[in-house]
Order: sequence, then C-alpha cells, then structure tokens
Amino acid sequence: SSDKLRHVESMSQLPSGAGKISGINAVVLGESLAAEENDLIFPSPEFSADALVSSPKQYREMYERSIKDPAGFWSEIAETFYWKEKWNPSEVCSENLDVTKGPVQISWFKGGKTNICYNAVDRNIESGNGDKIAMYWEGNEPGQDGKLTYSELLEKVCQLANYLKSVGVGKGDAVIIYLPMLLELPIAMLACARIGAIHSVVFAGFSADSLAQRIVDCKPKLVITCNAVKRGVKPIFLKDIVDAALVESEKNGVSVGLCLTYENQSAMKREDTKWQAERDVWWQDVVTKFPTKCDVEWVDAEDPLFLLYTSGSTGKPKGVLHTSGGYMLYTATTFKYAFDYRPTDIYWCTADCGWITGHSYVTYGPLLNGATVLVFEGTPNYPDSGRCWDIVDKYNVTIFYTAPTLVRSLMRDGTEYVTRYSRKSLRVLGSVGEPINPSAWRWFYNIVGDSRCPISDTWWQTETGGFMITPLPGAWPQKPGSATFPFFGVQPVIVDEKGQEIEGECSGYLCIKKSWPGAFRTLYGDHERYETTYFKPFAGYYFTGDGCSRDKDGYYWLTGRVDDVINVSGHRIGTAEVESALVSHPQCAEAAVVGVEHEVKGQGIYAFVTLVDGVPYSEELRKSLIVTVRNQIGAFAAPDKIHWAPGLPKTRSGKIMRRILRKIAARQLDELGDTSTLADPGVVDQLIALSDC
Ligand code: PRX
Repeated sequence: SSDKLRHVESMSQLPSGAGKISGINAVVLGESLAAEENDLIFPSPEFSADALVSSPKQYREMYERSIKDPAGFWSEIAETFYWKEKWNPSEVCSENLDVTKGPVQISWFKGGKTNICYNAVDRNIESGNGDKIAMYWEGNEPGQDGKLTYSELLEKVCQLANYLKSVGVGKGDAVIIYLPMLLELPIAMLACARIGAIHSVVFAGFSADSLAQRIVDCKPKLVITCNAVKRGVKPIFLKDIVDAALVESEKNGVSVGLCLTYENQSAMKREDTKWQAERDVWWQDVVTKFPTKCDVEWVDAEDPLFLLYTSGSTGKPKGVLHTSGGYMLYTATTFKYAFDYRPTDIYWCTADCGWITGHSYVTYGPLLNGATVLVFEGTPNYPDSGRCWDIVDKYNVTIFYTAPTLVRSLMRDGTEYVTRYSRKSLRVLGSVGEPINPSAWRWFYNIVGDSRCPISDTWWQTETGGFMITPLPGAWPQKPGSATFPFFGVQPVIVDEKGQEIEGECSGYLCIKKSWPGAFRTLYGDHERYETTYFKPFAGYYFTGDGCSRDKDGYYWLTGRVDDVINVSGHRIGTAEVESALVSHPQCAEAAVVGVEHEVKGQGIYAFVTLVDGVPYSEELRKSLIVTVRNQIGAFAAPDKIHWAPGLPKTRSGKIMRRILRKIAARQLDELGDTSTLADPGVVDQLIALSDC
C-alpha cells in the first residue's frame, strides 16, 4: 500500500545519515522475513505511527540536540521529576574523563535535592495513579501470585523504611540485600533509597564466600534475606548461606549484628529455620508494626544510591557506585524510549534484581514511569518450558525483556511450547546481557513475537546504569543481532589499539566519549582502580571492555568482551575469579580459565588445571574442583570443562598465553599461531593429547 511505501521511504534515511539502504523492496512487498544476516526488518507502519520516536529523522533531531546541548536536553527531562531543591543551573554536568588532565570525575545536577523512591512511588500516587497496579508477583508454583497498587507499595516501603530507621540505619549507611525475586526485594531497595541508605543487592545465587566478600567490603548495618526459596523443584536455603557468610565476615573483622529475615512460607516454615535469637529478626514480626507513612530523606543528586558488585579482570569484585539524580533520569528515559512505553503496558523483565538489569529495569526505570511491572520468582522451564508464555497470557504482558540465553534454551525445547499460548498481548520484545545471535533473534521475532513485535537489543553494562546502544522500536529498521544506534546523549566511538578513533565501517574497541547521566561515578573505596580499569586504557574515553564493529549503514554490532571477563548465560564472570577459586583447592597447583562458545549459555567456562606434583587425575577430583568453584562463587560459575594440564603455555617471562588456550579449548588446532616464543613449546602438544580426558 502507499502508506507502507511512504513509511519505508521515511525509514530509508538511516539515523547514521548513511543514505539509502538496500533490500527495501523485499520487505515492502511483505515477503517472508529474510534469511540473510544483514537484512532489514521494519516496524509496521501502525507501530511507528504511534511510537514515541517514529522515524530516523525524529531520532536524529533528538540525538543531535542531546549531543550539542546535553545540559538543555537533560534539564528538560529533569524538570518532569520532583526536586525538593533545584540543581545549580551552571552545574548540570561537570566532568573530566581524561586521566592525563587530572582525576576522573563525573557529576550531574549537582546541588539538586531529590529522592528516587519519592519519584518512583509517591509521585505516581500524587498524579492520581495510586490504585494502578505497580507490581504483579508470580510465584514459583503456577497459581501462586500477588499484586500491589502504587498506594500499597508505598505503605510497604514506608513500613520497612521506618523499621530501618528504628534500628539505626541512616543516610549513607550500607545495607546488603540477599533476597530472591519476592516483592520484598524491590521494596527493600526502595526503602533504602527513601532514607538515603545505600543498598547493595547480592544475587541470591552467590555462595556464602562471595556474599562474605561483599559484606566485608561495604560493612553493612544489616543484612536482609529470607529463609529459603524454591526454584522449580529445588529449595535453596538462603538463610543458611547468610549464616555462613556472617561467620566468615566476622573472621575478617566485619561483624553484622542484625539479620532481617523474611519468612518465605511457601518454601520453608519458620520452625524449620536455623535461628540466632540475638541477631535474627523475622520481617513479618517487626516490619508490619511500623507506620505506613515515612518522611523522605532528600539527598543530593550526587549522593550514592547503590553499590553493585561486578566482575572484572582481577579476582576481587568491583563495587560499582551509582548516584541518585542522574541515574534516576537515565533509567527512566531509556526505559521509556527503548520500550516505547505507554501507560497501559504490562511489563515483564525476567532479570533478577541481583544484577544491574533488575535494578534499572525491574525496579527504578519502570516505576519512575508509573508502569505496571511483573516480578517472577520461579524459573522459565518449570513446570515446563511454556511457563513464560503462560505468564504472558495470564497477565497480558505487552513488553517482554529477557536474555539471549533464555531464548536459546527455549528455542531448543521446541516451538510447540510457545505456540500453545496466544501471546497476542505482546507488543515489544527486548534482549540484554550478551550478543544475540541472528538465529536466536529470528526465532524470538518470528515465533515468540509472531513477526509482529520489534526487538530492542539493548547494549549496556553495570557501569553504564542504563541502555547505551539500543533500538528505539518504531524509529528505524532492525538488523538481527545488531544493537543498532546510540541512545540520546551517548557518543560511542570505535578506537584502534593505539586509541585512535576510527570512522565509518570498522571494527575495534568500543569506548564512550563524554559522560551520560547514568554513568557510575567510582568503584567503592577504590577510585584508582576506577581510573586504571576504565579510563587509562584509552586516554580521554571510557573504555567498555567490549569489541564492536560498525557497518556501512552505521549500525553497531557488539562482538563480546576483549578483556579477561566471560559472559556465561548473560552473567559476567572474571576468569581470574574462577582461577583463584580453583587454585584454593589443595590439589590444584595452577589454573587458567577461558571462555568457549556454548550453544545455550553463549559462553561456557573452560578451565585448564595443573595439579600438585604426584596427584593423579580422577573423576572425583574433577568433581571436587567444580564444587570448590560453586562454593566460592556460586553454581552459575561452575566450569563446564576441566582440562588436565601437565603445564600451561607460557612466555619466557612467565605470562600465560591465553590466545593458545582459547584455540585449544575451541578445538581450532590449525589456528594456534606462533608457538615458538613459548618457554616450552612441547606443552601445547601435551595439552592437545589430553583434550579428550
Ligand atoms: O559484553 C557486554 C555484555 O554484557 C556486558 C555487561 O555485563 P553486565 O555489567 O553484567 O551487565 C549485563 C546487563 C546490562 C557488556 O560489557 N552485553 C550486555 N548487553 C549486551 C551485551 N553484549 C551484546 N549485546 C547486548 N545487548
């Protein structure tokens, strides 16, 4: 139709300004979706017509404004939030990203006083949405569910905030939250934010040792947890893990005298829970007694909001620190545009609040928009692989945001689990955490979304606070596997090894020029590591740690980490962390860990292990090494493969040549490259010979 043609015409001016695009005709003619990787997939004219950003032209205008006048662009957005005191107009943004010019520092809206909890909850009630559902909760078992309106959410948040104040938690104090996906998790985050306390959520799949490490680093006033949770058929006794972590922290000089424990009755009764009366308190016994109103602590835009530990290239996790004002604007704005949010949406993000996605896009971003959010306690394949679509139909979910690993695992289980359900409510799909391979993209698009729903493949990081490169669903055609174009205010650059910016079609290291409001401000207690890791590799830029290419149309394609970090099922794991867990095993002399392609997880963990002299290889030892990693980090970091290594390929100066290990792990033996610089080239043959053991 002529409408459709006009639509495609308007889309042909790509955001990059690259000019006309190829392959339009096939799509205009409504042919079946392309088989080629680089084909373009257009949003429907109806979708674009109603979208917040409906054409490349509109995007380009907004984007250019955001780059030329960031202060004006973000101030206008800031005006739509509540500020107790306005920021200093001359200090909308102050930054130095260039280590050669002095300490790196970033601040936005300095001097402004606000509160993210107030903006995410109270403000929606004041605008007349108190009776709107803020959160639906779907439990592990089908049929187990709950919901809270914005007014009810506020009451729950206030009760907990009052309790926290009563036990001496105040502005600037850290609180560790170790909870599964109960509504109490976002409630606890919001309660901390309300009183200016700094929350640090630890994913409830981390082991006692990892939890202890985080407790020792941030010295919380209390730990909030629950007694147990069921994931599928498997119970996990979280309180036991906290008990062990608190013993371990005590040994390291940090003692926490209070453990607020939610009784998660469907998983475990309180009578069965191990208890230390002088330290442990049941949430249901105390919190419910507190008033349902609690004054807000107005904080500076630059006061810390939360700490979230993430993996880096050394063994010690990094405490990424986000502040209040800029993060608030950034998560709200990215959520709104990348999902083309409208007030009638029912939004479901499958991420756990233990990761950044759950912070920015389960809790803050959606609530700041007054959205209705679904929180799911269980797993996507329990009771069977149709669970997600059962939930989508039950709540009429309109926006479904998940990780490629989930898409791949459901894809493997078969389309019949999907097509059994209607999924008619779906409007926009989202992907995050790792590159989505074009075949998974197409399955998600064609099968889950019935070739109807645009996919927002959002590239970002714990450090960036919110989306950096992401489709705006109605604005331009998509290419399966590409995160498309930068969000407003974001200036990605691709640099070569020497840190020179490369223009046009190219590949290299992805850096960001200039700050954006959601950027992290430091690593907790270690500003030097912040500068060294992120700003020293390429002076003047924030270095993301990711490789990236840009095609002739200006689309960005993320190609994965270029540092010693691997991405397993969208979980970021430092190879050094796994190595240090392995070498803590008394029979392990040395270990080297690399990522290897994995059909479902994206990357699997492949560990080369050298044993202490005289110790024989055995299946029992292999298992015990894996258990060591599970205990020290968590089950999600368990190696997929242990490769016995009589020695490791090292240079004469003793550096392990991981390039060679990666090739051996991937069985690309004809691509080993030059091994002549190794101290002992014979090691390589020994390793190859042991590959199948
Ligand atoms: O390698 C990129 C990958 O995940 C890393 C960030 O991990 P984390 O801080 O745990 O945050 C995950 C959720 C934002 C990035 O450096 N990554 C994340 N999203 C994408 C991605 N890679 C490709 N495409 C994405 N959409």
